[in-house]
Amino acid sequence: MKIVGVSCSARKEKATRYALDFCFRAITEAYPQISTVTINLAEKEVNVCKVLGHCAKKLTCGQKDDFNELIPILSDPDVGGLIVATPVYMGAMSGQCKAFLDRCVMFRRNGFLFRDKVGGVIAVGGFRNGGQEAVIQSVHAVMLVQDMIIVGDGKPGAHFGGTLWSGHPEGIEHDEVGLETVRSLGRRVAEVALKVAG
Ligand SMILES: Cc1cc2nc3c(=O)[nH]c(=O)nc-3n(C[C@H](O)[C@H](O)[C@H](O)COP(=O)(O)O)c2cc1C
Repeated sequence: MKIVGVSCSARKEKATRYALDFCFRAITEAYPQISTVTINLAEKEVNVCKVLGHCAKKLTCGQKDDFNELIPILSDPDVGGLIVATPVYMGAMSGQCKAFLDRCVMFRRNGFLFRDKVGGVIAVGGFRNGGQEAVIQSVHAVMLVQDMIIVGDGKPGAHFGGTLWSGHPEGIEHDEVGLETVRSLGRRVAEVALKVAG
């Protein structure tokens, strides 16, 4: 089984990517049978949906950008889970994140290909309480529209998902509370994905 993670920051190797890597390490340490696939949107050109309509009946897009190379990765039946990691921009998910999620409408239109995949969300803010939970819930809404199974960070914390503070005075790697939510989220996504796969 594979779990795909999408880093939705404008910056390649900053806090959001760090969070996703940390999450994936937690998964593979606990579940070595799972492989992880990272999509780093900072290295891709994924434009907003232009409603060209090509995906109404076929798994194709009329735009000639990097989303096309993501289609086979995301529609792989071996994918059991999807983790979206986004920075908080102005109290909301990043524009990169929204553009990516909107483009994923093609998987809904062509047989609900994300149905029953397990979804988890990580939000990274510059402030301790800068909107991480609201952002997570807005990504959850998209996952529900895709008929996915959404999970949070599981017990014992059992809240919304991974909430990180990149503005920690000693660096994000010292946000121990936040990192624990990211670790737990990853393991919860993996645990439920394996249960769903039977
Ligand atoms: C346009 C913009 C808006 C931001 N708005 C918020 C915000 O509302 N709340 C918050 O906690 N941090 C906010 N930040 C800070 C980022 O969430 C933070 O720097 C985060 O680490 C960015 O992700 P990155 O390190 O992967 O680039 C904002 C940053 C930018 C560039």
